[in-house]
This record gives sequence, structure tokens and C-alpha cells, in this order.
Amino acid sequence: MHVKDLKRSSEHSIMSKLIVEPEYLSESYLPEKLLHRDKEIAELLGNARNFVSTLVYGPYGSGKSTLVKYVFKSLSGKFVPRYIDCSIYPTTYSVLKEVVPRGPLILARSNYELIKELKREVKDKRFIVCLDGFEKLREKDLIRKLLLLGVTLVLVTDEEENVSLITDDVRSRLGVLRVNPYTSEQVFDILKARAEKALVRWSYTDDLLRKISLGFLPVNSTNCMKASV
Ligand SMILES: Nc1ncnc2c1ncn2[C@@H]1O[C@H](COP(=O)(O)OP(=O)(O)O)[C@@H](O)[C@H]1O
Ligand SMILES: [Mg+2]
Repeated sequence: MHVKDLKRSSEHSIMSKLIVEPEYLSESYLPEKLLHRDKEIAELLGNARNFVSTLVYGPYGSGKSTLVKYVFKSLSGKFVPRYIDCSIYPTTYSVLKEVVPRGPLILARSNYELIKELKREVKDKRFIVCLDGFEKLREKDLIRKLLLLGVTLVLVTDEEENVSLITDDVRSRLGVLRVNPYTSEQVFDILKARAEKALVRWSYTDDLLRKISLGFLPVNSTNCMKASV
């Protein structure tokens, strides 16, 4: 065996001994409980239940996408929640395809047909659509169109100045939720909860987790994702 392969295989075997459940360290993992976000959950849930669209902004890694996914999961069956990552679906067509339920045996539908279908669907269903990273949408006018159709929106962005991409008439209809960076204490709690699920008990100490959470101060104190990998 090559030295490089030997190194890789021993690293792999150490990792597999330390990590009990890799799923809990993946980016797609949605925690059953969101720590230190009670106020934000209540606000976003309250807006959603009252059909109030919300602009959510805050630094990268502050848990915005996780917050929206968590709230969407908590909504009752009366709602039709759609979470859309605009860096993957930046065109009007791709967003509409994600929002509108698939019709039986209809393979291709134009934007016009999709909008017409949505107009029909919103009459008896409560659509709530998250456009995560809305600044990446090629045609921002889609935001206004969806609002006019009666869809509740959750617009998410990392940068506050992206708000300027939204026209005043749309902005005046949005509630605003600022998601603040986590303090290092809060990062510690989140890391600890995740480590308890993902790692073998002897592989970490509180002291180590505290150092990691402090190591992300001041600029990256917010970034739980970076801290958790
Ligand atoms: N309150 C929290 N409790 C547990 N994990 C959290 C919490 N907030 C964020 N995370 C974790 O931190 C990471 C980054 O969160 P994310 O929602 O992607 O941030 P953002 O969208 O603001 O960039 C994710 O892996 C998420 O699971
Ligand atoms: Mg995000």
C-alpha cells in the first residue's frame, strides 16, 4: 500500500471510531430542537400563521435556513410549505416548478401555465414559500408576482443591503426579522448538543468545545456550521 493511501485509510479508521452518527454532522441535518432561537421561531411562526410575509436577514452561519426549515416543519397540514434555495433554483421557471404541485401526466408547462395552476391552487391551499438567497433570483419581479397571487413569502438573505433589491411596494408588505449572531456561549451549547449526538463520549471535552466556540470570535462567532465540522 502507498504511504498516502495508508495515511488516508488510517485517518478514515480513526474518524469512524470517533463519529458514531455522521448524519448529525451533515449540512442537511435539521436539529429536533433549535437552541437559543425561541423568540425568532415564535415570530416567524406567528407571521406565517397570519399570512404575513417576512424578510429574514443575518450573517452567514447564524442559522437562518435552519430556522425557516424548522418553522416550516412546525406548520400544520393546512399549509403547503416550499423551501427553495435560489442558488440552485435561480430562474422563474425553476422556482415555479418547485412551488406548483406536479400535475398528472403533464410533462412540460410554461411559466404562464404554472402561474395559472398556482392561481387555482392558492384558492384553497395556504402556500408559504421560502426564497433562500433571494438576491440570486434572476428576475426579482417574481417576488411581487407571488405576493399578488396570495402566496406568503419568507425571503432570506445574508446581507442587509440586499433589501435594496426589493421594490418599495413589496418591502412595505414584509415583516422584518433580524437574526443575530450567536455568542460564543451559545455556539458552545449548540456544539455540545451536536457532539453528544454525533461523537463518542471520550473524543471531546467541554474544554475543547469551549475553545472551538471561542476560536470563532469575533468574526466567525456566528458560524455554527464551520464550528460543527
Ligand atoms: N439554534 C441552533 N441549534 C442547533 N443547530 C444550529 C442552530 N443554528 C444553526 N445551527 C446549525 O448551524 C449550521 C448553520 O446554520 P444555517 O441555517 O445554514 O445558517 P445560515 O443559513 O444563516 O447561513 C447548520 O448546520 C445548523 O444545523
Ligand atoms: Mg443559509
